[in-house]
Amino acid sequence: MRLAGKTALITGAARGIGRAFAEAYIREGAMVAIADINAERVADTAAEIGAVPVVMDVTQQDSIDAGVAEAVERMGGIDILINNAALFDLAPITEITRESYDTLFAINVGGTLFTMQAVAKHMIASGRRGKIINMASQAGRRGEPLVAVYCATKAAVISLTQSAGLNLIAHGINVNAIAPGVVDGEHWDGVDAKFAQYENKPRGQKKQEVGAAVPFGRMGTARDLTGMAIFLATPEADYIVAQTYNVDGGNWMS
Ligand SMILES: NC(=O)c1ccc[n+]([C@@H]2O[C@H](COP(=O)([O-])OP(=O)(O)OC[C@H]3O[C@@H](n4cnc5c(N)ncnc54)[C@H](O)[C@@H]3O)[C@@H](O)[C@H]2O)c1
Repeated sequence: MRLAGKTALITGAARGIGRAFAEAYIREGAMVAIADINAERVADTAAEIGAVPVVMDVTQQDSIDAGVAEAVERMGGIDILINNAALFDLAPITEITRESYDTLFAINVGGTLFTMQAVAKHMIASGRRGKIINMASQAGRRGEPLVAVYCATKAAVISLTQSAGLNLIAHGINVNAIAPGVVDGEHWDGVDAKFAQYENKPRGQKKQEVGAAVPFGRMGTARDLTGMAIFLATPEADYIVAQTYNVDGGNWMS
């Protein structure tokens, strides 16, 4: 019960890694609000795991403000924020569309920044020593031939974590990030399908290849990430500021 008495808001938590974080936080004694753009799925997931559902689009300022206010009202405040909502896309440089660029930056970068801003304002106003965890990726550590835009958004998340971490620690708020490698789930089913299209591979082959290439010997699971997400939210992580931790089975060292 390392998070007993704490409250957490987790974006993009109707499924996948965010859902696993919510379940892990609830097991550790926290009250959790899960925010997602998918209203039906967020309601179902919240009912299944015992979380507070919040319908929120992290690309819209009024939706962020309303979602944060609702989470504060339902839980009495927010001690921990996980900025987890994100979207993936891929294309060779010559085929990247402005729509894909705008959408990915709006969700992955703008969503992270302005949700962090709204929650930080609340934490400062309520005198909380809060914890903010941003979801980066190994994709933010280096480019990939077909993944320019997503990689750039995750590099931006690492950079925002550094700047916000340095700025907000003055208020006792720790901002850090987690950089997963390849994590199996519905998200990667979609990634695999896109690679199949561009690399002319049968469905499922890219997943096998990336899993086999992980030094640990397999793709990650959402549960492989929960230990770091819990640790970064505890007082034991008070002295950790503006860092991004790789949790990727050894895929990347930095
Ligand atoms: N799965 C991986 O291999 C992997 C690897 C590295 C990093 N990550 C990162 O981990 C995080 C979670 O990934 P996942 O695999 O669980 O993804 P996912 O696609 O399963 O879940 C993302 C969630 O975000 C929600 N969402 C999308 N747009 C939104 C918006 N505008 N506002 C609010 N919610 C929105 C979706 O409805 C979905 O529930 C992401 O930040 C992702 O970039 C994932």
